[in-house]
Amino acid sequence: MCGIVGYVGGQSALDVVIAGLKRLEYRGYDSAGVAVLADGGLATAKKAGKLVNLEKELKDRPLPDGFSAIGHTRWATHGAPTDLNAHPHLDNAGRVAVVHNGIIENFAVLRAELATRGHELVSETDTEVVGHLLAESFSSCGDLADAMRQVCRRLEGAFTLVAVHSDAPDVVVGARRNSPLVVGVGEGEFFLASDVTAFIDHTRSAIELGQDQVVELRLGGVTVTDFAGAAAEVRSYHVDWDASAAEKGGYDYFMLKEIAEQPKAVADTLLGRIDTTGALRLDEIRIPASVLREVTKVVLVACGTAFHAGLIAKYAIEHWTRIPCEVELASEFRYRDPILDERTLVIAISQSGETMDTLMALRHAREQGARVLAICNTNGSTIPRESDAVLYTHAGPEVAVASTKAFLTQLVACYLVALYLGQARGTQTADEVRTVIRELADVPDAVGRVLQTMGPVRELARSLAQKDTVLFLGRHMGYPVALEGALKLKELAYMHAEGFAAGELKHGPIALIEEDLPVVVVVPSLRGQPILHDKIVSNIQEIRARGARTIVIAEEGDGTVEPYADHLIRIPVTPALLQPMVTTVPLQVFACELATARGNEVDQPRNLAKSVTVE
Ligand code: G6P
Repeated sequence: MCGIVGYVGGQSALDVVIAGLKRLEYRGYDSAGVAVLADGGLATAKKAGKLVNLEKELKDRPLPDGFSAIGHTRWATHGAPTDLNAHPHLDNAGRVAVVHNGIIENFAVLRAELATRGHELVSETDTEVVGHLLAESFSSCGDLADAMRQVCRRLEGAFTLVAVHSDAPDVVVGARRNSPLVVGVGEGEFFLASDVTAFIDHTRSAIELGQDQVVELRLGGVTVTDFAGAAAEVRSYHVDWDASAAEKGGYDYFMLKEIAEQPKAVADTLLGRIDTTGALRLDEIRIPASVLREVTKVVLVACGTAFHAGLIAKYAIEHWTRIPCEVELASEFRYRDPILDERTLVIAISQSGETMDTLMALRHAREQGARVLAICNTNGSTIPRESDAVLYTHAGPEVAVASTKAFLTQLVACYLVALYLGQARGTQTADEVRTVIRELADVPDAVGRVLQTMGPVRELARSLAQKDTVLFLGRHMGYPVALEGALKLKELAYMHAEGFAAGELKHGPIALIEEDLPVVVVVPSLRGQPILHDKIVSNIQEIRARGARTIVIAEEGDGTVEPYADHLIRIPVTPALLQPMVTTVPLQVFACELATARGNEVDQPRNLAKSVTVE
């Protein structure tokens, strides 16, 4: 949520910053702006709307270029997405420029205080106070990093800040609390960004910034301190994917590329976790087996698509471990005062590792003494850093706002954790674990086969572009899949879409069925509980009798559904508990194609952002 870039080095700073913002636009696209230190002064440009508007502005009215610059792409919180509210924000003398991600909770008090000292604030944002405070502090101490530390000590809330001052040439200063910021270390050049994709074209060498740290970039190097000014320990790491992973690679949209990458993402997430004998090895889970044996309850917390991964995981965890398992929306979790203790294992699932609701939930859980295991796709992000252990998914960078490959890899990670727990507690024998591992190893191939048969699904999606509503039904693990199918359609096609447990139909939702209403039904595997399968076949008949147009997702060879399916989407036969990994894929393709047919922006749906760093 909001993308930030900073640069000091020998290249055109504006070019580096604009290219970085392009990579970060998934984090917000309400407005964009830049500030560059040039000709002994500060030059800025900012525009409402997507980055292309800023690029056009810079073409029409070029800025002088320099070697240090900052940039921002916004997801609005305080103040509408206008030119005036776009970042960077300046002080009244126009000597300081600052960009911000997060929310400064005490901005109203600070704003009133600044007004009494004669400052005129012109925007509706919480950010602008920082520019003014920085200007005041800089005028008394003459050092931008020191000024940043002084200001940060006065701020409450969540913030990543990056600033420049026209009297501090070739210096860019950043700070972070509860919001992401990473440093890129090139040869004689340094970068700051919300995530590494912004500078991956230039360097794969990065430094993690910790909570409450200030970083100063100069041509000579990088200095990191805490907010009090004490030197901080610097943790460097190497980014193990290259720039091509963050490109569209010939696809029209990142989402299409990411859907196509799913077989590899699933295989990569299994890689290194299975030894030569086919046994499960999760050494990275540093929670001792003795502790896992004592776990009395598992709680999964997550948001959005990751929450749906949690709902699916519950079935596998309870089945394989017999430990009671709860799944909770992270945003609701801590407010209901959940019952947690040191024998509770909380699993926080997050692609970005920065979702504020999930972060706050895990902090609450740890305060109550629970152990927290993160399942995360982003190396070094806040959620894994604050957890007791982490299992990384290896989906590679996911850029499209609607999550696809990250979701499938979250499922893989959940299955692995469930098996690991089962193994540690003795509810799964080594042979049983090996069998599931072998079945998991077949999933990339099954997903690949689904992807090869998506032509009719695309055609169907295009034919439904004028519809207002699509319903999704499922039972057992098909129920969260139905929820995920509906979420995808809401996010991308802006249609009314609802997922229901098929058994609930008769308790209300069946009243929604009318002539030609498209209803997608996820049919459980024949290899699971036969009764579930039979019941959903009855549900299909019930809705069809009332006029619904039935779109049925069923396994190859399942002939029972044929008479009742207006459209039949076949998926490969898969073990019942792993079936969501294949049934979800047609729903991703369906939503993506429907959004395209409706003329919507697939990668950047309206009002959304990928990394939601506010509560
Ligand atoms: C946002 C995104 C969703 C995502 C959710 C959780 O709402 O639009 O696609 O599922 O955040 O994100 P996380 O990074 O925690 O998985």
